[in-house]
Amino acid sequence: MDNAIARARELIGSARRLAVLTGAGISAESGIPTFRDAQTGLWAQYDPMQLATEEGFRADPALVWRWYAWRRGLVAGAQPNAGHRALAAAQSRYEHLALITQNVDGLHARAGSTELIELHGNIMRTVCLDRCGFAEAAPERLPSGEPPTCPRCGGWLRPDVVWFGEMLDPEVLQAAGAQAARCDAMLVVGTSGLVYPAAGLPVGARRAGAPVITVNPEATELDGLAAVCVRGRAAEVLPRLLAAQAPG
Ligand code: APR
Repeated sequence: MDNAIARARELIGSARRLAVLTGAGISAESGIPTFRDAQTGLWAQYDPMQLATEEGFRADPALVWRWYAWRRGLVAGAQPNAGHRALAAAQSRYEHLALITQNVDGLHARAGSTELIELHGNIMRTVCLDRCGFAEAAPERLPSGEPPTCPRCGGWLRPDVVWFGEMLDPEVLQAAGAQAARCDAMLVVGTSGLVYPAAGLPVGARRAGAPVITVNPEATELDGLAAVCVRGRAAEVLPRLLAAQAPG
């Protein structure tokens, strides 16, 4: 791994504008299961691909809300790890470090990253299912039983995340695409590269001439276009990869 880290440090160390794409793997060491990890406990019997859809929600709002309450509990009890913190600390060392995440757990913001694009929303925000415009921070706890209803239009409230089959906010996606097209290097951490349009961002960076570096303990769909693939865990690799370059 050391040669790969050394090569990766050269590439990102010489970049003025660094774009970073993260996925569920960067939060794994904060105790948050990756999306394709087997669900645990009570939720092992459910398929997230069914629960995280508008159809699944409308079919059983109370069930889906209980699943999100469980996930919100995991997130609230989690702490950013050394990978999140290394990215936050590196931000001031670049002319621009654009952090684009597929994660909805808010851990990058809690680690101190500010140039953040949350492609798939944030589980700790709640919005109106019928998009009447109502939005709020997640309630401390769900009202017992029935999921919350919108105080503005009376419809259901839902977590402010992108569900399977839904389009991303076009403005958010456009902002992420612009960062990928303008960066001098793109670092891709903890994502299987299976889900578009997020997985298309490294393709855009590569097409614009920027080298792509992946950090993942496993092979990913994006390794083929990477200049360097660093095999390892984000919390171990990122502090080494992003450590300030020795002066001189
Ligand atoms: N450090 C780095 N990477 C890790 C770690 C770790 N400690 N542990 C696991 N990984 C890697 C896995 O090898 C895998 O490649 O993280 C990746 C997680 O992949 P997925 O579970 O597919 O998560 P992600 O790529 O973020 O999924 C993208 O798809 O499920 C939807 O909306 C959901 O945002 C999600 C999107």
